[in-house]
Amino acid sequence: MATKVIKGGTVVTADLTYAADVKIENGTIIEIGPNLSGDETLDATGCYILPGGIDPHTHLEMPFMGTYSADNFDSGTRAALAGGTTMVVDFALPSPNQSLLEALQMWDNKSSMAHCDYSFHMAITWWGEQVFNEMETVVREKGINTFKHFMAYKGALMVQDDEMFASFQRCAELGAMPMVHAENGDVVADLSAKLLAEGNNGPEAHAYSRPTQVEGEATNRAIMIADMAGVPLYVVHTSCEEAHEAIRRARQAGKRVYGEPLIQHLTLDDSEYMNKDWDHAARRVMSPPFRNKQHQDSLWAGLASGSLQVVATDHCAFTTDQKRYGAGDFTKIPNGTGGLEDRMPMLWTYGVNTGRLTMNEFVAVTSTNIAKIMNVYPKKGAVLVGADADLVVWDPEKTKTISASSQQSAIDYNVFEGKTVKGLPRFTLTRGRVALVDGEIKPAQGHGKFVKREPYPAVSKALSTWKELTAPRKVERSGIPASGV
Ligand code: URP
Ligand code: ZN
Ligand code: ZN
Ligand code: ZN
Repeated sequence: MATKVIKGGTVVTADLTYAADVKIENGTIIEIGPNLSGDETLDATGCYILPGGIDPHTHLEMPFMGTYSADNFDSGTRAALAGGTTMVVDFALPSPNQSLLEALQMWDNKSSMAHCDYSFHMAITWWGEQVFNEMETVVREKGINTFKHFMAYKGALMVQDDEMFASFQRCAELGAMPMVHAENGDVVADLSAKLLAEGNNGPEAHAYSRPTQVEGEATNRAIMIADMAGVPLYVVHTSCEEAHEAIRRARQAGKRVYGEPLIQHLTLDDSEYMNKDWDHAARRVMSPPFRNKQHQDSLWAGLASGSLQVVATDHCAFTTDQKRYGAGDFTKIPNGTGGLEDRMPMLWTYGVNTGRLTMNEFVAVTSTNIAKIMNVYPKKGAVLVGADADLVVWDPEKTKTISASSQQSAIDYNVFEGKTVKGLPRFTLTRGRVALVDGEIKPAQGHGKFVKREPYPAVSKALSTWKELTAPRKVERSGIPASGV
């Protein structure tokens, strides 16, 4: 097998910084040290060699709010590689009453286009004996150990507390980890209806309908429910101090609770919704919405201190035309923003270059912590002999101004448009394959492979039966595509 050597760079991991060459064969790292040689050389002079980024939260080609998110596994994973991300974890989303295994098959089909490796979380969008049974297959046969619960999107994806408690207990006995979209969906629905009735139908009302308290309340509730179920908890898109505080307190009390700020919430604030241009504001409608500077400071502090562990994107991109479904009614604006291509350069620019994060912290929150939490470390998230050669040769001097005109994403705008970043990949390698050279993508559809994720050590020894695990009351839900609150 031909070998590659990344030469002349400085390896940066979550805990070490040192000069070394990295030798790759057959998609894995086979040697790290001085003066290595191989059949092919990649020049890393002046660069850092980092484990490839992992984005633990993407929605590619997802049916949502009357449409499909615009980036699929082709454009989505090209965007990932262009920004130094070499693995994405996407959400398989069953429609209410749909089999989990059937939904997984749909995601499996879509992901055959992937240019980089990927894994899935399974969403629990309804509850019943079939879901209870299929969860075992999902964990033990399909290699998925995380289950997402929406506490918002009432009447569509939202699950009730009793359903969540039952599902969390099932996660505990299977050695899986629940995740939550933590917003109080009942309160959001109520506030949304009132705002609309008062004639507030523009995108700025989306932010008013989801104040930080709805997130803080739901985060606290999910943490307590997880504690009662005896299971760790991963809180997605943590956007405010109230939610961060709940996570911080839980961790101090000895609970395994993880928080995931998004690059969008770290770098864009709620003034974006005050833009007079309807399109500008609508393009930034996502849940939770962007927050003010005080909340942003809280998230940055959490990353530095370790009370928040991960930076993701929740990449769920819609075109301007799709956003316009909500003209005249903000609750119909498809919720979601892009960010896959920009997460690492933006975090480096606003985190490392400003002194808010060290380089090692940057690696931890973009890659290593995620690999550990998702149980794929050290295959992913590591620069170690035997690890997959998912690597980024990071040039700290390289700059660009972010523009939709040059992005991989299929949408017609970029929420970071006009921002100048300093720190970009010179090369991105996916399992040893060079997929990006100085800003130019070398596509290979189908190169990406599904990464199985093993269960965590199970809390319970024996599995319960459906009858033993109290079956919650039946809830009426509309099908997907679903409404916006
Ligand atoms: O607004 C968002 N975040 N859209 C994507 C779906 C979700 O809630 O994560
Ligand atoms: Zn969400
Ligand atoms: Zn604008
Ligand atoms: Zn999401």
